[in-house]
Amino acid sequence: MTTTFSLLFLPGDGIGPEVMREVKRVVSWVEAQGLARFRLDEDLVGGASFDVHGTPATEAMMQKALAADAVLFGAVGGPKWAGVPYDKRPEAALLRLRKDLGLFANLRPALCLDALKDSSSLKPEIVSGLDILIVRELTGGVYFGEPRGITTLGDGSRRAVDTQLYTTEEVRRIARVAFALARQRGNKVASAEKHNVMTSGVLWKEEVSFVHRTEFADVELSHILADNCAMQLVRNPKQFDVIVTDNLFGDILSDEAAMLTGSIGMLPSASLGARDAGTGKMRGLYEPIHGSAPDIAGENKANPIAAILSFAMALRYSFDLGTVAGRIEAAVGAVLDAGIRTGDIMQAGKTLVSTSGMGDQILKSLG
Ligand code: IPM
Ligand code: MG
Repeated sequence: MTTTFSLLFLPGDGIGPEVMREVKRVVSWVEAQGLARFRLDEDLVGGASFDVHGTPATEAMMQKALAADAVLFGAVGGPKWAGVPYDKRPEAALLRLRKDLGLFANLRPALCLDALKDSSSLKPEIVSGLDILIVRELTGGVYFGEPRGITTLGDGSRRAVDTQLYTTEEVRRIARVAFALARQRGNKVASAEKHNVMTSGVLWKEEVSFVHRTEFADVELSHILADNCAMQLVRNPKQFDVIVTDNLFGDILSDEAAMLTGSIGMLPSASLGARDAGTGKMRGLYEPIHGSAPDIAGENKANPIAAILSFAMALRYSFDLGTVAGRIEAAVGAVLDAGIRTGDIMQAGKTLVSTSGMGDQILKSLG
């Protein structure tokens, strides 16, 4: 008997809807092969939701997301919503989803496929074979810490506060995710913080060391200052296997790592919650790490690979279908090896295709 999984599609803004259209074709392929069954639902999020409902995240959408086995998220934001109130901006929906679903572990692989090593802005020998995983803490730190806000002072000038805040348990649980994943890969974790400046960095370093000593002594652990980590990522990225870091450093370092691979349009991500002790279920939201790319939205030019690989991550982490995920990843690799390219990764002598053209090729390769 094949289990039926519920999947919520949140295509969002910009190129979100067009890349998610290609994902749906891959979902249908998985079903047609009899590999799994899905119950699909879809809703608006971000600016698209704001335009219709006056809010980037409706309660109805949040309920669907809480109930789904996995959420497939496109992208949110764009210049169109530059003027909306701060708490109604498209990005607020993503932050609320992360917080309310308890998605504390953000997995951002940066993998340089051989076919693309020349698209990187770094020399091919620096990036060829690169395979690193950034594990970013996603529901704490300065993104959510209180107090926060802007106050007007007596002299009319203003003062803004954000709070970087971490607790023992927040650090320990993300460290456990990083160490456990490292065991399945190169068995190495680099923990990035700024203990030389921030007390939250002192706590981070101590708690990561504690989890290492007490539960994961077999994994190689190093501590690295986040600024040095940024530098080492462009100097010699292959020294890293898993990097674990806080919400803000993870935001920045993962963009940097993404660029090493040649195209940010290639990289998927998974945001995972804790496994429920009773049901064994774990919440998951999967999204391409590229943004909404409003400059090319609606032109059938965007690269759907990151979104398709995000679905592959959903198969692996939410549905325990790692082999099916592997087939999709292999199909993407084969299409790239055959010289098929969207505009963002186009090179001389290769074949330029559209968003749907890339989808066609990946489906053809899947067979
Ligand atoms: C990301 C994005 C988000 C973040 C934005 C859109 C709120 O940059 O997922 O990396 O800062 O976390
Ligand atoms: Mg970011």
